[in-house]
Amino acid sequence: MTIKNLRRNILSVSSHAGNPAARWTFLGDNLVQLVDVHHAYAGDQEGDSWVLCGIDLTVRAGEFVAIHGRSDTGKSTLLHILGGILAPRRGHVLIGGRDLFQMSDRALSHFRNRTLGFIFQNYYLAPSLTALENVMVPALLSGEPVHRARHRALDALEQVGLAAKAKACPADLSGGQMQRVAIARALVNRPTLLLADEPTGNLDEQTGGAIMDLLASYQRERGLTILMATHDPSVELHATSQLYLVGGKLQAGSAVVESAASGRAAPENFHPSAARQKEA
Ligand SMILES: Nc1ncnc2c1ncn2[C@@H]1O[C@H](COP(=O)(O)OP(=O)(O)OP(=O)(O)O)[C@@H](O)[C@H]1O
Ligand SMILES: [Mg+2]
Repeated sequence: MTIKNLRRNILSVSSHAGNPAARWTFLGDNLVQLVDVHHAYAGDQEGDSWVLCGIDLTVRAGEFVAIHGRSDTGKSTLLHILGGILAPRRGHVLIGGRDLFQMSDRALSHFRNRTLGFIFQNYYLAPSLTALENVMVPALLSGEPVHRARHRALDALEQVGLAAKAKACPADLSGGQMQRVAIARALVNRPTLLLADEPTGNLDEQTGGAIMDLLASYQRERGLTILMATHDPSVELHATSQLYLVGGKLQAGSAVVESAASGRAAPENFHPSAARQKEA
């Protein structure tokens, strides 16, 4: 696909793009607020399969929050809810004081493009686009002209050490290289909030350390707020706070032993099927 076609396709689904003055501004210190968030996936039986069972969380602008937890405890689920990709069964998700799931789909897409960077655990790169084109997509969606989107995408690829692979398609990249393309794509629009789902999960120690340093430098020097799900112990060097997802709830402090995760109690007087659901 040529860049021209890419841009035409993007603009056809994004008629609201192109107004840099419409960027969201945040007042006050609290950038993220989760209130009593619960989630169970469709098909779950009553009472025994709640993934999230009452998450309350406040994150101040400029923090770097690490979210730990054993596999399958719901870290990705939580990040998808924070990113407005998955509506929780119950509770509220506020970013900059705005309730994500009270917005129209159009306003939410706009908000996500301008405010959030999301590094998906499974990358979700478009297979028919080159690495450069994949990274250009959010910039084009925000209304950047092609030459500026290309410049910013190349810069982002350089930051993650992948400028030499700009013309390669995902099928010709290693897992670690795809992960770094996904990181560049998440950073290209200079987000206010970065949601990072195991961003170093596929990288060797040295490359993972470099990526962790890069993200931490964005937090320190540019005020980027980061919420990162990770099993990478090196995050302890950078995170301003560490949380553990255990039994569907968040707990603070390194004293929490991950193996404590077990039963997932359903909230009282609440049945999953009675709840609102709007899964992406
Ligand atoms: N789309 C889905 N439909 C049904 N169940 C799902 C879906 N996505 C996740 N789950 C289930 O929700 C639970 C939490 O999954 P999630 O991916 O959030 O865990 P995780 O903590 O990110 O795990 P990991 O550390 O392996 O990435 C798991 O039991 C998983 O099988
Ligand atoms: Mg996960």
